[in-house]
Amino acid sequence: MNSFNPTRFFQYKKSVLTTEGVSISDLVNEYGTPLYVYSREAFLTPIRELQKGLAPLNFQICFAVKSNSNPSVLKMLGEAGVGMDLVSQGELFRVEKAGVAMDKVVFSGVGKTALEMAYALERKIYSFNVESVAELELLNEVARSKGIQARVALRFNPDVDAKTHPYISTGLKKNKFGLNRNEIIQIAKGLERLPNILLRGISIHIGSQILSLSPMKDSFSKLSALIKELEPLLPEALEFVDLGGGLGITYKNEKPPAVDKYCALIVKHFGPRSPYKNRLKVLVEPGRTISGNAGILVSRSLYRKKRGKKAFLIIDAAMNDLMRPALYGSYHEIIPVDQRRTKDSKIKTDIVGPVCESSDCFASDRSISSQLDTGDLVAILSAGAYGFSMTSNYNSRPRPTEVLVEGNKSRVIRERETYEDLVAKELY
Ligand code: LLP
Repeated sequence: MNSFNPTRFFQYKKSVLTTEGVSISDLVNEYGTPLYVYSREAFLTPIRELQKGLAPLNFQICFAVKSNSNPSVLKMLGEAGVGMDLVSQGELFRVEKAGVAMDKVVFSGVGKTALEMAYALERKIYSFNVESVAELELLNEVARSKGIQARVALRFNPDVDAKTHPYISTGLKKNKFGLNRNEIIQIAKGLERLPNILLRGISIHIGSQILSLSPMKDSFSKLSALIKELEPLLPEALEFVDLGGGLGITYKNEKPPAVDKYCALIVKHFGPRSPYKNRLKVLVEPGRTISGNAGILVSRSLYRKKRGKKAFLIIDAAMNDLMRPALYGSYHEIIPVDQRRTKDSKIKTDIVGPVCESSDCFASDRSISSQLDTGDLVAILSAGAYGFSMTSNYNSRPRPTEVLVEGNKSRVIRERETYEDLVAKELY
């Protein structure tokens, strides 16, 4: 079975949804709703698959922190040997607190500030993935003021269509990300003007939720061609390539490339039998691949309501708790926590939250049990990536509890926010 099937780690046992050895309804009895529930095994399985597939290489997995930045999750992944890909000082702050080794950290993003650069330089991170000439010049200045050199990868925008949602497509020349071939060649030719920059690598990241290997293959080929052109211009050969993240997962019935096939493609391009003969270290930055199907959002039904022919189920989770459907129109499987409710007759229903916006809708015209009603629990699947990390307090709703299940045990990894938390920084 595909390891990224949304139900692989969340299965019915004795008619109740469980993860590992724990019943979801028991967790709700203890912690209430809305509730994020994660499974440790679900995080670690794709990591093991990546580690196995990339074994022929000198590699480093750098988890995309933006997909799930819970400190216990970061700590657990760090202990599994995973490094981190981050995009802000806030993420670096979290990663450091979680005890992740700084020499496994890369800093991406188009808008790093001088303060963020200084903070990351002090911590001796592995690489700044630089996205513009202006950023490179500022980084040179900041490093000079500290009397050190910054280790840098230039982010190459290969102009490849990742064929995904336009909001999460990043590798086209019209996107704000990265540098084009000419800019990179010009930078290489003028490197002596940037004595505090140590150019060590090239990075790419063409988009997210990619469902075919062909754009990956195209971008790896373009990257290889660039490296061939670039290296003769450099004082020293490159040390690494960073291939970004982006491998898709199953939310509904998508068939993303299997992790072993993805790894095989990487090994083919950069491994022992590639022109590089394993000379280059290979970094990857998976987010969703690791966290996407490792978490669910559990919610309680508040009301059923009819409006003409339209049926609504109003639940106690809302767009502030999981923004993806409202923001991208994305699909999440929604299943009853009590399996007996899957056997009732079905009725097309909109599953919506309490927030005062029509976009606060988790599913339109979804076939669900006609019996699901006040008090019943539903699980919104595949919510581990870009779920909690994109929450807000919109409508003054406190953020939900997060719970991590490890075998037969569970523990709170973030407490539910209180109303006092909501106003703690506010002044009257
Ligand atoms: N590396 C870089 C430089 C990135 O910008 C991203 C994601 C990743 C790695 C990880 O990509 P992944 O493996 O997770 O696809 N909020 C959107 C996704 C935004 C992705 C942004 N960049 C969503 O909910 O679908």
